[in-house]
Amino acid sequence: MTRFDPAGPLRGSLRPPADKSISHRAALIAAMGDGETEIRGYLDAADTRSTLAAVEALGARVENADPARMASELRIHGVGLRGEEKESRGPRSAAIDVGNAGTLLRLLPGWLAGQAGERWTLDGDESIRRRPVDRIAVPLREMGAHLSAREDRLPPLEIEGAPLRGITYELPIASAQVKSCLLFAGLLAEGESRVIEALPTRDHTERMLAAAGADVTSQAVEGDGASTRIVTVHPASALEPGLIAVPADISSAAFFIVAALLVPGSEVLLEGVGVNQTRTGLLTILEEMGAELDESETTGEHGGEPTANVSVRSGSLQATEVGGALVPLAIDELPLVALAACFAEGTTTIRDAAELRRKESDRIATVAEALNALGGKVEPTEDGMVIEGTGGLRGGRVESHGDHRIAMLGAIAGLASREGVEVDGMDAAAVSYPGFEADLASLA
Ligand code: S3P
Repeated sequence: MTRFDPAGPLRGSLRPPADKSISHRAALIAAMGDGETEIRGYLDAADTRSTLAAVEALGARVENADPARMASELRIHGVGLRGEEKESRGPRSAAIDVGNAGTLLRLLPGWLAGQAGERWTLDGDESIRRRPVDRIAVPLREMGAHLSAREDRLPPLEIEGAPLRGITYELPIASAQVKSCLLFAGLLAEGESRVIEALPTRDHTERMLAAAGADVTSQAVEGDGASTRIVTVHPASALEPGLIAVPADISSAAFFIVAALLVPGSEVLLEGVGVNQTRTGLLTILEEMGAELDESETTGEHGGEPTANVSVRSGSLQATEVGGALVPLAIDELPLVALAACFAEGTTTIRDAAELRRKESDRIATVAEALNALGGKVEPTEDGMVIEGTGGLRGGRVESHGDHRIAMLGAIAGLASREGVEVDGMDAAAVSYPGFEADLASLA
């Protein structure tokens, strides 16, 4: 049990850890690459260590260019995109433990499915075994892939490499993981592949593949669903990523952004944060609630990803409505929106977010349970939550359910509460943010 007591004002600046989504992609695309890729600022956390172990199992060589800085500066010698070429190139058969990493579970099969003659099994922890893989199996099979899963939808996932053909696939759910998986498969398929997304999702894969020399293009389609995007990928013979620089993770920065908003008198600066528009839904929502945020462009484009310093100061908040196209842009931050809504004036509604039930925990259930245990008034709905703002939270006890984002939510709630919060299972934070408690202490 870890206790987080009500805090005085949070002050100071810090650089949150590297982006988890981008780090996973960097390791995978480096493994697909020809020759050596340097990754600057790779996230050193449990999830992204699973990805390094996976690419090593596939035959890639991972070197820490700077061991003193742990895994953060890496060189990866790729195995090459395809197996059928000279000198046994391409990923070799293996049993892969994805740990707790849903992104690894959903992205990697896209690459493996197209390697004729090899086989893989992907499995992970108890939480991974509840996370659906039919969302990737269905379109991959349409491309010609051979996959099988427990009850046809859950890990372990078995993949037997096969020749693939390009398809046009309209995503039935807004998922960057499914899109990315199909883009990887499209690099190996015969002909062009197209992924249509009615609601745009994070586009890190498109950016990184294009930077590595792949022919990937994205087109916005104007029409009724104004935001529809078509992403097209052509087969590639090789990728050459060269250098990949990973910005700080806005999903980790999010905890301090909300903490600074809720703890009176706070003023915090978060440095080098990735502010790709497909990830900044939380900032839009908080500004709508009345938050004072300032985003100053820093290095501009950093490896194809825009970064900024984000400064936040505490202030009062109004209730809001969250739904539609905003949901995929803030999906991992919706637990924090619910926390902020407890402190706001009025009733906040989150809808169109049924996907929250399929994350590391059922986040509609676990967020409602956590905030209600602290004195909040949160009503879970099928696809979201209704949160009655009560101006604050009493405090109490939060169970993380092994979910990193619920553990960190409990910690932030503790700082902003009247009586403090005890978090059961704080160690889950190490999945994305091993230094979370130390960083929080440095601001308190
Ligand atoms: C991720 C996409 C999102 C997000 C997850 C990371 C990614 O999942 O919730 O934490 O890196 O592509 P979905 O694509 O399944 O919505």
